[in-house]
Amino acid sequence: MTNSSLKNRKRVAKSLRDSRILLGVTGSVAAYKAIELIKGLKEQGASVRVVMTDASKNFVTPLSLQLASGEKVYGDLFGEPMSHISLPKDADIMVIAPATASIAAKAANGMADDLLSACLLSFRGRVVIAPAMNWRMYESPAFQRNLKRLIEDGAALVPPDKGLLACGEEGVGRMAAIGKIIEAIKSAVSPKDLLGEKILVTAGPTREYIDPVRFISNASTGKMGYAIARAAKRRGAEVTLISGPSAIEPPAGVGFIPVVTAIQMRDAVLGHLPGATVIVMAAAVGDFAPEAMGKRKLDKAAVSSIKLKKTPDILSELGAMKKRPLLIGFAAEFGEGRRGDGLKRARRKLIEKGADIIVFNDVSRKDSGFGADTNKVVMLLKGRGNDLPLMSKDEVAEAVLEEIHALRAKRKRF
Ligand code: C5P
Repeated sequence: MTNSSLKNRKRVAKSLRDSRILLGVTGSVAAYKAIELIKGLKEQGASVRVVMTDASKNFVTPLSLQLASGEKVYGDLFGEPMSHISLPKDADIMVIAPATASIAAKAANGMADDLLSACLLSFRGRVVIAPAMNWRMYESPAFQRNLKRLIEDGAALVPPDKGLLACGEEGVGRMAAIGKIIEAIKSAVSPKDLLGEKILVTAGPTREYIDPVRFISNASTGKMGYAIARAAKRRGAEVTLISGPSAIEPPAGVGFIPVVTAIQMRDAVLGHLPGATVIVMAAAVGDFAPEAMGKRKLDKAAVSSIKLKKTPDILSELGAMKKRPLLIGFAAEFGEGRRGDGLKRARRKLIEKGADIIVFNDVSRKDSGFGADTNKVVMLLKGRGNDLPLMSKDEVAEAVLEEIHALRAKRKRF
């Protein structure tokens, strides 16, 4: 690992890794989902301490939460004197999930008649709140008033989803999906060092139709590009995600432009160019398209003789512009050694495509590239390279944004 990659690891550690989370669990049927939330947070390197209200113990046992967190579970205001001061003092962030109308009312009004409400009153950091209740309670003027006040006081809301509620009714009130709560927590602990940046991200594959049922595409899933869009949003940037077909849910708070073909992606990129300060081309844009698309399903013989034409190279087009945003491209290549000289090809692309950074992405390994949750990359910049260890795609996204942040700061200075 190079020195600079070590530096990146450390910056990544400023996010969820090593964060100390104080999780409040209150009396909603969704309380059992706290187990999954704790596991998800711990998987990402956070430590979690749990404070339960009495009502929550009807829905999940303290022992289950103790086993999930690996820590003692708290609940009694007078059990351990001063725990309502010491627990919040030792935490970087407080999360209330699920949050009932009752805890919102207490927190909004500064009540402190149980351990969790007292912790909320003495806590000095960011609070993330994920409500869960019947839709009538959720929409009630009193609850909405309390929620508004909590948000004014700086709390981050993870809005509940619409769906079938425990009472059998349909409506807004289901606790948000665990993934959304984790994303909100990551956002709350993240530095907002990309505030003021307008970042365009492309992601996923493109599709070029041969006829109405067949197309040419590739194995890209969009995981890397979506991770970049989410991370840039967390760090305060205004983000537009232009995505080819992908099964991933578009990140909250991000402008989302779905496209199919390379031409559509190019048009969307050029359409959003004005005002953009950074473009990250993480999409695996197909290089070839059929010269013409069959109007009906073609005969097999006709398919075997289709003629292909080159698609526009969006990155090169942007790279050739005189005044252009900071440009980052990805090069999906086979790694070095017996199987290819991908790194050399990627470095050539940095020059030929006129990019500021090319991220060499090793697609010869099972744990890297298309579809994997981890990635092995080397960041190539003019005159230097940064060989990163195998990391999660979220961590790679943070490392890429770290370089972007540094280059943008330099550009502003000169
Ligand atoms: O040449 P190659 O496809 O390996 O280049 C990869 C980089 O160029 C990626 O950032 C990709 O998004 C971009 N690209 C493009 N238009 C194409 C092909 C690739 O912008 N037609």
